[in-house]
Order: sequence, then C-alpha cells, then structure tokens
Amino acid sequence: MQLKRDSWAEPYKIKMVELLKMTTPEQRRKALQEAGYNTFLLKSEEVYIDLLTDSGTSAMSDEQWSGMMRGDEAYAGSKNYYNLEKAVSEVYGYKYLVPTHQGRGAENILSQIMIKPGDIVPGNMYFTTTRLHQELAGAVFHDVIIDEAHDSNSEYAFKGDVDLNKVEKLVQEYGAEKIPYICVAVTVNLAGGQPVSMKNLKELRAYTAEKGIKIMLDMTRIAENAYFIQQKEEGYRLKTIAEIVKEICSYTDGATFSGKKDALVNIGGFLALNDFDKFEEARNMVVVYEGLHTYGGLAGRDMEAMAIGICESVQDEHMKARIGQVIYLGEKMQEFGIPIVKPIGGHGIFVDAKQFLPHISQDDFPAQTLAAEIYLDAGIRTMERGIVSAGRNSKGENYYPKLELVRFTIPRRVYTQAHMDVIAESTARVYERRNEIKGLKMVYEPKYLRFFQARFEQL
Ligand code: F0G
Repeated sequence: MQLKRDSWAEPYKIKMVELLKMTTPEQRRKALQEAGYNTFLLKSEEVYIDLLTDSGTSAMSDEQWSGMMRGDEAYAGSKNYYNLEKAVSEVYGYKYLVPTHQGRGAENILSQIMIKPGDIVPGNMYFTTTRLHQELAGAVFHDVIIDEAHDSNSEYAFKGDVDLNKVEKLVQEYGAEKIPYICVAVTVNLAGGQPVSMKNLKELRAYTAEKGIKIMLDMTRIAENAYFIQQKEEGYRLKTIAEIVKEICSYTDGATFSGKKDALVNIGGFLALNDFDKFEEARNMVVVYEGLHTYGGLAGRDMEAMAIGICESVQDEHMKARIGQVIYLGEKMQEFGIPIVKPIGGHGIFVDAKQFLPHISQDDFPAQTLAAEIYLDAGIRTMERGIVSAGRNSKGENYYPKLELVRFTIPRRVYTQAHMDVIAESTARVYERRNEIKGLKMVYEPKYLRFFQARFEQL
C-alpha cells in the first residue's frame, strides 16, 4: 500500500472552549418561523454551527487577549493607536491611518471625501455597504469585474480581476474626471471570495496612472487574496504572504479595511491613505461620525488587538490552515455532488442555489429558501447572497444578480475539521430532498440593506 499524504494542521492549540447548544428539529422550525425565515434574525443561541459570517467571529490568540489588557484608554493619543499605525505602515505600507469602528465607517468617510454627486465609481463587483455609501454620496456604481466572476462554473483562477475594457468604456462614456477612484476589493466577497491577480493590479495601475484615476482598495481579506497569488500566480510561489500583501497595497492610493475578517478581531477597521491632504479631510470627518482621530470609535484595547491580529494574519502557516479548512469543506461538498462556486474561494463555500433548487424562480428567493432549509436540518446558520442581498436600484427596481448563492462562511480559528464534516453531511441531506422544497415570499422589506431585516413566509 502506498501512503501519499500531505496533511496540514492548525498552527495553534486550543486553550479555551465555548460550549454549544444543540436543538431539536421542532425547536428549529419554531425559531425559523419567528425569525421570518431570515437567518440574520435567528438568536445565536438557536444556532449550532454559525457560518453566517467570518466577520468579527474569529478566535483571538493569547497574544491578542493579552494586548487587550494593555489597552490605553486615553481619549486622545492612546499608545495603542500608535501601535496600530506602526502595524499598518509596516504590514501594508500606507502612510496615514484613520481608525474607524469597522469597515463601513471607513467607507462612509472615503465616499464623502472623494465622491461628488454625479460621479461614477467602478468596482470589481459590488459589496452591499460599500456600494450603498458610494450611492449615498451621490455616485453611480458600475461593475467592472470580468465576466467569469458571474459564472459559478468558470474555473478561472482569478475571478476577482478587473476587466480593463469595461473601465475603458466608462472612461470613454463619462470622462476620467467623473471617476474619482476605482474600488478594488481583494478578495471579492460576493463572487465567492475570489482573488485578484497581481498581474491585473499592475495593469490597472498602469492604466489608471495614465488617466489620473486613483485606486482605492477594499482590503478586507487581503491576506487571503495573497495566499491565492502565492499558490496560483506565476512568479509568486517563493514569496511570503507578507511580501505579497505589501506589493498589492503598493499599487493603490489608499484602502478601507474591516479588521473583523483578516485581522482576527471582533470589532475594528480603518481608512488608510497616502495623500496628506485627503488624510487631513478624513481625519477631520472621522470626528463627526466615529470619534477622535486617534481612536475612531474603538477602545484602546481593540486597536491593540487589531495591531497584533494584522501581524498574525500575514503568517504563511496561518493562511495555509485557514484556506486549507475552507478547501476541505468545499471538496467534501463536491463529493456529495452539491453545486458550489468554483474555484473554491477564500472565506467560505458558496453553494449555487439556482443549480441546487432549479425549480424555484429567482422571484421566490432560492438562496434565502436554501439558507432556511440548511438551518432546519441541523442548526447550521448560513447567509443568502442573491437577489435579497442585491436589493433595489435608485428607481426602486430589483437588481437581478446572476449569482444566487448561499454562503457558508468559515470563521477563523473557530471550528474543527469534524465540524466541516457535519456541515457537508447536513447539506447533502438537504440536497437529497431538494425536490420537495418550496420558495418564499417577502412580507416585510426595510429600505436599506434589506437582507439584514427582511421577513419571509413559506409559499
Ligand atoms: N467590504 C467587504 C468586502 C466586506 O465583506 C465587508 C463586510 C465590508 C466591506 C464592511 O465591513 O462589516 O466591518 O463594516 N462583510 C461582512 C460579511 C459583513 O459578512 O461579509 P464591516
């Protein structure tokens, strides 16, 4: 017998555990009804394995927890701010830092200081809060991601790439002066955690430099993006995640960051800029929305934990185990024949609800329905990323996204391989009875970001 194995394991051991509550099918049915078939409205106590999001749900290290004890809770000039500033400059290379309570706080400030009403903001697929802040500031968002990103079966390795022809078309149509910046997300959340290649970033940099257009990075999952570049892009195999992360940032003018993902903290974010004048504007505006510019809505201890988490996030062994776990789950699902977005992305597995439930039309919310059914089976909480998340345009019409997905998002350093097995097996059970599943109708729709609070009933 030939044994050929190349297993990886987590580069940490477990020091403390949080006990989970198990529920019965009856309890889950009742909980789901009370939550209006929206997994966002479930109580976390009603959930067994929580894959709603990887945002703010990671386990901090003992180093981060001890950093919490070193919080300097001064209103102004906390030493933790300076530690964070140092981490941002050393790991990402940006000159100026404005902390915010989380990513959308930074998006708000960036949008307000950069966008004039009537502007155009191209982006590699939308993200919910990012696009809304651009729109509230008066811009119209245009998707410039490559077409492959909208096809869940395309195996292209860098489905987050920007299509330069689409950008050029916008420049031709509206003029470069109408485009304050291009928003580039690494990785692309709604495409399935898909990465952007370095080659594409370099080409975009060359193109925009010529046209005088800035590039603002949404670097929420940049270390995960760097891992894919290391593994799949020619010339990067021997580079470290840290080197690749810094190179990505070097092709951009600034970034918004949600520390709740890569940086392994439960709260925190920032806006980073290289231009001093824009930084001054941002530093002034943060006082209005978040807090003084040396804390931006965070406690000193939160800034310390984020500074440490940023450094931990770019360690090669960490990233290998992180993405390794996601790939393990994805491959297991594929063995059961479950249709998922390919290639497997960074922060979770995205199940294709259109292929899973082909008999349910998009108007009857297939992904919302599937997320509800997954919860019913074993108490696993996932999230809709389809027509409900896409919302409506400024004329009030529904967006109809090509991708109708259920996201199984994996928190960092939280669940074990055995949990991954349970998740795949539960999904397979739902897949076996897929033909019996009926859609939903929306009975309550909030005005903004409806997916968070909308309520549904079974058809
Ligand atoms: N950009 C991306 C790509 C994100 O995924 C998120 C958050 C944000 C910006 C906003 O950051 O939550 O700190 O304000 N995504 C979470 C998710 C909510 O579940 O995907 P935030």
